[in-house]
Amino acid sequence: MPKRASRTSDAAPINIGFLGFGTVGAGAFQTLCDNLPSITLKVGRPLAVKSVAVRNWNQPRYANAPLCTAQRAKDAWAVVEDPEIDIVVECMGGVEPAAELVLQALRNHKNVVTANKELIARRGREILEEADKQGVDIQFEAAVAGGIPIIRALKESLAGNRIQRMIGIVNGTTNYILTQMTERGCEFTTALAEAQAKGYAEKDPTADVEGHDAAYKLSILASIAFESRVDVEQVHREGIAGLTLADIEYARQLGYVVKLLAIGEETPAGLLLRVHPTYLHHSHPLTSVSGAFNAIWVQGSSVGKVMFYGQGAGSLPTGSAVVGDIIDIARNIRHKATGRLPCTCFSNKTILDVNETVTKFYLRMEVADRPGVLGRIATILGNEGVSVASVLQSNASGEEAEIVWVTHEVQEVKLRRALEQVQALDAVKCIRTCLRVED
Ligand code: NDP
Ligand code: HSE
Repeated sequence: MPKRASRTSDAAPINIGFLGFGTVGAGAFQTLCDNLPSITLKVGRPLAVKSVAVRNWNQPRYANAPLCTAQRAKDAWAVVEDPEIDIVVECMGGVEPAAELVLQALRNHKNVVTANKELIARRGREILEEADKQGVDIQFEAAVAGGIPIIRALKESLAGNRIQRMIGIVNGTTNYILTQMTERGCEFTTALAEAQAKGYAEKDPTADVEGHDAAYKLSILASIAFESRVDVEQVHREGIAGLTLADIEYARQLGYVVKLLAIGEETPAGLLLRVHPTYLHHSHPLTSVSGAFNAIWVQGSSVGKVMFYGQGAGSLPTGSAVVGDIIDIARNIRHKATGRLPCTCFSNKTILDVNETVTKFYLRMEVADRPGVLGRIATILGNEGVSVASVLQSNASGEEAEIVWVTHEVQEVKLRRALEQVQALDAVKCIRTCLRVED
């Protein structure tokens, strides 16, 4: 039997270097410091934060940072080139210079933890290949859904499954906005300002509101779940900026809740990957995920349906995920097993156009309040194979009226063909909203 390593014999610390000490960096540092004695026992070797780099130590935010002078690195390159650092923790954000720093750290045979979803979504392939080449670890649990341990669950606990479908609420800012619109009747701009004030939003909130952040996260999740590299540009993306309180209110009347969903599914023809606001039936467990919370619902071939829920952003929840990765790598270092879990994108699966999606739709349109208009629209829908499940006409003034349709399941391309013809009718002022519906 192999001899079990002692928990006390290896006294030399495993040295950590941080790139960035903002919301996430400081949260990870605090988590590590608060729990250091038990973490040391869990790893079997002490851990030490040897150095930390930021852009400018003179900023007021660093006046009370709990670091000694020796830990304040000259710059990020000093951390990456320090031969005594074993694990580099990248939590500075953005693609450059983060990508060059991470790649150089890997070339220097350092293990890397990152919270940076944009980096992994855009440059993951070359970063994971470099880690594999060097036999070191690259881990990024915090990059998707903050504190929720979804990456490790997909890579390890659910590895025996074929993942069939995944639906995630993976952006806290948009979930906060939609919750405030639903529960308090807040206007979109008011709710966004609140989300920014609470620190959920990215520096440029367009990344949240237009669905880029969720698309980065879905491309990472899908690459792992479906074992095939997904580039973020292959994810269909729509944001929530066009939604109004009217859409939220119709959802309530019809038994739905509006959520920005990241959906990945494997069909016999290929992968369908999309981020968009959705009418989600009130009986779905994801409708109870409110505020800045995140959740990911996964359907696997053996496990069936499972759901992961928790805080998708914030200093300590995200710090928790970063420290989990540090501990895992430290254990691998101790047992000389780094690189044991390389990239699992073995296949090259086809990624389908969103027009291949088969789903129900919610449509809201403003039309002339005249005899025969509703019938003409229904005829066009029928001719294109779009079957109507329900129709609601309201706000009829004698001049204009609002019509809301919910369709049965239909291939998206057929719906789009019908909508082009509907829009061309004189009596149709505009198609205000077209949302996919999930039961
Ligand atoms: P912050 O803006 O709070 O912190 C960024 C830190 O990186 C600052 O300390 C900044 O220093 C430093 N930094 C930036 N550029 C450089 C550089 N070129 N050299 C050295 N240091 C640099 O960002 P967050 O902590 O919020 O986010 C970090 C990453 O984590 C991002 O990728 C983000 O998407 C991701 N993330 C964030 C979550 C959150 O809840 N905030 C949740 C999950 C992931 P200085 O202050 O001097 O500019
Ligand atoms: N801006 C992101 C969100 C932060 O709102 O979810 C966490 O990635």
